Order: sequence, then C-alpha cells, then structure tokens
Amino acid sequence: AKNVGILAMDIYFPPTCVQQDNNGIIINLLNFILGKKEALEAHDGASKGKYTIGLGQECMAFCSEVEDVISMSLTAVTNLLEKYKIDPKQIGRLEVGSETVIDKSKSIKTFLMQIFEKFGNTDIEGVDSTNACYGGTAALFNCVNWVESSSWDGRYGLVVCTDSAVYAEGPARPTGGAAAVVMLVGPDAPVAFESKLRGSHMSHAYDFYKPNLASEYPVVDGKLSQTCYLMALDTCYKCLCSKYEKLEGKQFSLSNADYFVFHSPYNKLVQKSFARLLFNDFMRNASSVDEATKEKLGPFSTLSGDESYQSRDLEKVSQQLAKPLYDAKVQPSTLIPKQVGNMYTASLYAALASLIHNKHSELDGKRVVLFSYGSGLTATMFSLKLSEGRHPFSLSNILSVMNVAGKLKSRHEFPPENFVEVMKLMEHRYGAKDFVTSKDSSLLAPGTYYLTEVDSMYRRFYAKK
Ligand code: ACO
Repeated sequence: AKNVGILAMDIYFPPTCVQQDNNGIIINLLNFILGKKEALEAHDGASKGKYTIGLGQECMAFCSEVEDVISMSLTAVTNLLEKYKIDPKQIGRLEVGSETVIDKSKSIKTFLMQIFEKFGNTDIEGVDSTNACYGGTAALFNCVNWVESSSWDGRYGLVVCTDSAVYAEGPARPTGGAAAVVMLVGPDAPVAFESKLRGSHMSHAYDFYKPNLASEYPVVDGKLSQTCYLMALDTCYKCLCSKYEKLEGKQFSLSNADYFVFHSPYNKLVQKSFARLLFNDFMRNASSVDEATKEKLGPFSTLSGDESYQSRDLEKVSQQLAKPLYDAKVQPSTLIPKQVGNMYTASLYAALASLIHNKHSELDGKRVVLFSYGSGLTATMFSLKLSEGRHPFSLSNILSVMNVAGKLKSRHEFPPENFVEVMKLMEHRYGAKDFVTSKDSSLLAPGTYYLTEVDSMYRRFYAKK
C-alpha cells in the first residue's frame, strides 16, 4: 500500500466549558448586567492574564456527569462512519489511545465493539495503547504500520484518541480539557505519512504520572514536565534532521516544513517549543537562519544544554525572533487546543484538525511536522505530506464533516462554581458503582452518547440522544 495515512477524521468535544477569562471591560460589564459569574482566572484568585497570556489558553471543555471517554468515543466513531458513509464491516483494525483509566483490564476498544457487532463484524484487531498523552500516536502508528504490512487484509484501520484531562485544584487545573478524535487509516490518503521521517526519544522520568489508582488526578511536577517536554523535542528534532540528511543528502531546517503541529498541554508551551526549534537551527548552523537571528542568539551559543533550558533570556529572545514564523507555521494549528484545553492523547490530533480547519484550501503538497509527547516519557516527531485527495477522502470533506466552527459556537459556558461542583461529584464517582446519572442530555447534540447508569457489578450503560 502506498501513501498510507489519514483518510478521514472527526472530532468530538463536550459542549460544557468554562472560560479562562472574560476578556475586556465590555464583556465584564455585560456579564455583570446579565448576572453572569466571573471566569476561572478570577475564581481561582490567579492574577489577571495568568491563564490567557501566561498559559495562552482561552476556554476549557469538561465532561459533565453524563459524559466520559467511552461515550465521547462512541459518539465520534458513530459520527465518522455515518458522515463518510463507511460500512462498519470495512474496519479491520481498531486502536484506541487513552490515559483515562475506567477499567484496569477491559479496554475502551471493547466498548466500541458494540458498534461493529451489530453489523456482524467482530474480526477487528487492536486494543488500547497507554502512555500519558502519547497513546494516540502509538495507536496511529500501529494502524499505519498494519496497512503497510503483509498482515493487512485490505480493510481500513480506525484510530480513536480520547481523554478527559482533569487536575486537582491548583496551578495545573486550568490546563485540563476533554475530547475524542477519530481517524480512518488507509492507502492513498490526503494526509499521508512520510514514514522514513521520524525521530523518537524515550526515557524514564517522573514528570507527570498516575500512581494513585483511587484518583483520576495525576501527580505532576509542572516545571520538570516542561523541561522534559523541551528536552524530548530537541532530541527528536535532531534525530529527524539527521535522518532527513542521510536520506536526502541536504540539511533539514524549519524552512523544509510548511507547518509544525505540537502536542498542546497549553499554548504557551507550544510557543516556547517552536522558538526552541529555531534555536536548534541556529546551533546547527542551518543556512536558513538569518543574520539578525544569528546576532541575537549568538550570546547563548555557549550555554550548556541544562543552562539553555533554564535561561529566561534565551526563552524571551528566541520567542521574539520566532514570532513571524510561528504566526505562519504554527498558529493555524492552535485553535482547538486553546478553546478546548489539553485533551491529552487527542491534543496533537485536535491541533492537526485545527490546521485543516484554518488552511484546508492551501494544504495541497504541503509538509507538516508533528511532535507527540507523553510524560513518563515517550516522544516522536514525524512528518506528513498533504494533498487535496478525492471525495469522500478529501481535505475539503474533512473540513465540512468536522464542522469545527459550528461545534465551538454551540457550546454552553458554565461559571467556575459549576465546574468545581462537577469535579467534586466526579471525585466521588471515580471507581464507584451502583449509581444512576441525571440522564440529562439537554445540552448534547442529537446522536451523542451519554452515561445513564453504573450497576452493582460496575457495568456501564449508555444511551444515545
Ligand atoms: N499575566 C501574564 N502572564 C502571567 C501572569 C499574568 N498575570 N502570571 C503568571 N504569568 C505567566 C508566568 O510568567 C509563566 O509564563 P512563562 O512560562 O513564560 O514564564 C506562566 O504564566 C505560568 O506561570 P507559572 O507561575 O510559571 O506556572 P504555574 O505555577 O502556574 O504552573 C504549569 C504552570 C506548570 C504549566 C501548570 O499549569 C501545570 O503543572 N500543568 C500541567 C503539566 C503540564 O501540562 N506539563 C506540560 C507537559 S506534560 C503534559 O502534557 C501533561
């Protein structure tokens, strides 16, 4: 099979969300008149601009008590099959990436089999992949490798990346989010893998982990996780560059890719990451680095690796220098991550969806480099080649099926108090049995699955609106 990659995709995120900040006096005034409550920043007592400018986030989606990773995946998979008119019997592999643990043994994939069993298709390989935010990439690679392999039976692969990212109260809480992204994998794809262009970095770190099996919340060393992310980025980029250079006999630099798409825990880290790649190009003496950049980054060339991660000046200067390139090559992929928050395994692919949403008509023939990071830690940088494709597997059809603008617009904002209440309720519900939910689906779009009950045997029941 040739040009294996993503044929079709769709995204689902909960309609329930909380604003990071009410930007501007007019909106504040309006909210006051309407009796609307303050946004998360003020509610948490954070200084003005900390979440919106400091973290670069705008809004955060969260699962209400009737939604979870299983309901979001059921919705996303059903929607994709229906909207692209895919016969469920044509799926030969189904892989799920997630770090949201609902069951320590039974995979999310097996819940999704309900969709396929109805059509008499149980011949579907694949289970769940887990390592923090990286599981979706592992699942995607498994599907792509399967289609490229001798065990491929000619059917499609299906990848689901889904998470509900929630943090305990504290500085990490505003970096939550929730979503499910689903991708159909096969040959002759409009979003094709350049499979030889990949660099990975895997190592042992305690930056973000979930050792407490009684809690949904992670243990996070925030500062360490930022450094781990940037170190993994550097190593992966160097690895990808050297592979490209061996293959093509010429240097790889930022100028060789049209877009860069990053795993997005929060937007500020994406800004820092791209600036870091420019610093890498400077240190590797890439011919694409202009004189002004060379001059301004010169003073930092003698820093040791460790020092360079700690230098606030380097961070500031390189971000300023990278700004025009960031606006052109990165900004178009940041929409959904800023509006929905960290979706863990789905974050990177929600960023890719944002790029297609914003640039669909300009993507033919373009190279997109993606960086996937999962704490603990596992990371890969890899390359995709885009083409318009043929209906139904075309970029323009992906754009219209995803309907990103429509989904963002039809959300319901909640005051932080309600969000906190939901978090408290979910703390009690996590790992619990014998309860029924409110079954309130009034905010959900038609066709959305939702949780109705967990019985005395911990069996979960869902309904479709
Ligand atoms: N106006 C503008 N900017 C502000 C303001 C303000 N009023 N107040 C603070 N800031 C800036 C800070 O200067 C800082 O920016 P900088 O990084 O450019 O210096 C930023 O806001 C964050 O503030 P800090 O005090 O440095 O950090 P905080 O204690 O709030 O924690 C963190 C931030 C570490 C990201 C936390 O939210 C966290 O732990 N998140 C989860 C971990 C995570 O996402 N890690 C990333 C990789 S791992 C993963 O994907 C899960």
